[in-house]
Amino acid sequence: MVSPTALLASALSIISMFSSTLSFAPQHVNIMVKRHASKRSPHFLQSVPSLIVFDLDNTLWTPELYQLRTIAQQNKDPVAHKDVKLFDGAHKIIQQIKSDRDSKFANTKFAVASRTKSVDWAHSLLTQFELRDVFDYIEIFPGNKEQHFKNLRRDSGIEFSEMLFFDDARDGKFGNCEPVASLGVLSVHTPNGIYEESLFHNALDHYREWSTHRSPGTIIEWDNSITVGQTVNVNQRHKGNVKFVNREKRFGFIQHEERGKKDTFFHFNDLPSGAVVEEGDELEFTIAPARNGKLSASNIEVKGQSQSTSDSDLVEMRTFSMNLPFAALLANGYKTIETRNGTMFTPYPEGTKMLLHVGQRIYPDGDRHIEVMKSGGLNDEEITSLKSLPRGFTKGMAVAIVELGKTYETTLAQRCEPDYQRSVAAFGQDSGMLATEIKRVEYLKQGVKVSGQGGVFKVKVERSVIPDGWLEASSSSNNDKGYYYSATF
Ligand SMILES: *[C@@H]1O[C@H](CO)[C@@H](O)[C@H](O)[C@H]1NC(C)=O
Repeated sequence: MVSPTALLASALSIISMFSSTLSFAPQHVNIMVKRHASKRSPHFLQSVPSLIVFDLDNTLWTPELYQLRTIAQQNKDPVAHKDVKLFDGAHKIIQQIKSDRDSKFANTKFAVASRTKSVDWAHSLLTQFELRDVFDYIEIFPGNKEQHFKNLRRDSGIEFSEMLFFDDARDGKFGNCEPVASLGVLSVHTPNGIYEESLFHNALDHYREWSTHRSPGTIIEWDNSITVGQTVNVNQRHKGNVKFVNREKRFGFIQHEERGKKDTFFHFNDLPSGAVVEEGDELEFTIAPARNGKLSASNIEVKGQSQSTSDSDLVEMRTFSMNLPFAALLANGYKTIETRNGTMFTPYPEGTKMLLHVGQRIYPDGDRHIEVMKSGGLNDEEITSLKSLPRGFTKGMAVAIVELGKTYETTLAQRCEPDYQRSVAAFGQDSGMLATEIKRVEYLKQGVKVSGQGGVFKVKVERSVIPDGWLEASSSSNNDKGYYYSATF
């Protein structure tokens, strides 16, 4: 339990944090000032959200509508349960919402906020899935999700701080959680969709706790941890290195010197005039919301330009994170199929190469992988060695490079085949419904410390850590840059 003094202290720190952001984020401040000045103290607000908002594509259902090219070419409409499926967790949540409408959710409204371009399809699917009655407000149009939320606030009269929001896209160009969280909405990042009910229940638990302080910029991450945005102090100077630049579009990201901080966006317009920056350069800067409400570096000073590694020594690789023991089982070549309930690997064709990053957690599978591995005749010693990373490779590192094979949907019966279970290292019931083959895998020449993220993310590593024969083979087949294309919407 949080002590009353701690609560008071956190309330005071929120108030003081607002006074320091006052001139930079007026929309944001108004909401909070109103909240604190109002007669209803936060303690009397209900601890169930007044409005729960869901994104559609890859959050409630899969695949994303833009992926249904064949159906578009044939001039047809997608069919619910066939072309587009609700995630299992989403389906269960909706059943619950329907049955708890008069009890637990008596004071809660529900809404959809989607930026899909396939507006008619989305409406048609909501009808086909019989979801229209579930949602009190439906906002579907391309553009900026902050607009969807402003409409929701206007139409419902509910403040941002009484809303809870689920979305598969966190930050960056197509991100939703971050801009919506900075409005003051508690946002839940579900990079693999709402594949299990627990995502919803965990979020409601977090909401209850969060409702004692309602800090803006809070995101519940894919691994159920919490990130609180950097809305804190616009005068504080930060240090970091340029991690990535897009010279055509004239923006980039800065990796903070301090560990564990999220990368900060910057636009070339905010560099000192005439400055040219490259990956690795050292910058000093403050952080403030830009015109579009997103946090961005400003007052940038270039402290040091990197000479050590020229761009040609670095290679940008897509990377995905897995926890132990499965990451080691994959890197050691035992696990040849990776399964997901979300569409994370769907955009990447056969032959795509990615780095494998080892997450900080141990995946809690109740040691069922041991049972599966034993069924193939392995002894304890062999299992222990397949679950271990080689010397010098640890959690928190990119450890190996993999080549993906096909990604395909499986039935429960297929997932329960003994051979299949062994190639996944899990029982059919515990596996995800989308299988991705791992065609080959090899350890990097050296592990590279990288902070993990949900979904597929980009990492720059020195070319020299990639084992021989991996970069040459098909590096021109994907596109002209060879190793990276973005497929997140
Ligand atoms: C996929 O979903 C099923 C059913 O909700 C669940 O039991 C399983 O643990 C999930 N697996 C993965 C790999 O996410």
